[in-house]
Amino acid sequence: MKKIQVKDKSFAISIPEAEILKQVQRVAAEINRDFAGREPLFLPVLNGSFIFAADLLREITLSCEVSFIKLASYSGVRSTGEIREVIGLASDITGRDVIIVEDIIDSGLTMAHMIETLERHNPASISVCSLLVKPDALKVQIPIHYRAMDIPNDFIVGYGLDYDGFGRNTRDIFTLV
Ligand code: IMP
Ligand code: MG
Repeated sequence: MKKIQVKDKSFAISIPEAEILKQVQRVAAEINRDFAGREPLFLPVLNGSFIFAADLLREITLSCEVSFIKLASYSGVRSTGEIREVIGLASDITGRDVIIVEDIIDSGLTMAHMIETLERHNPASISVCSLLVKPDALKVQIPIHYRAMDIPNDFIVGYGLDYDGFGRNTRDIFTLV
């Protein structure tokens, strides 16, 4: 069993690279089919989705654009706590078919906020494409049009996902032991 150490924690392999790539190819084929004849704008969310986006986009045969976005966190003065703003929205998304590319949907709160923010720019459509989904952790109802894999409610790293900033640079996905 392949194991890695990330800072103070041990992780064991849970999804090998070959399985990830197989599911990424399947998702890309679905998008190629569904968006045939259209020119979507892919919006991968930094930092976690950078590897997924690179593999996914190389399987996309559509005429398309790619523009990375990021959620900046501010510890605001409001009692509601964290304020998260979408930054880097360089392209005009008005009237565009937008595909959000995320690493993982856990509670779904991040994605719900992202959708709400993008809707204000009046895109033609918004689709959600996530590498991973933790169905048992979802707290809000959000549309998830494309997903590579569902995983249990465990903490994972690798293939772009981090633990405290580290562990993004592995080919396989590892689960906390
Ligand atoms: P949500 O708002 O609860 O859906 O959280 C989504 C974000 O939390 C993701 O974009 C990740 O950055 C982070 N996250 C959630 N679960 C994990 C995990 O198992 N490993 C690493 N990051 C995670
Ligand atoms: Mg993320």
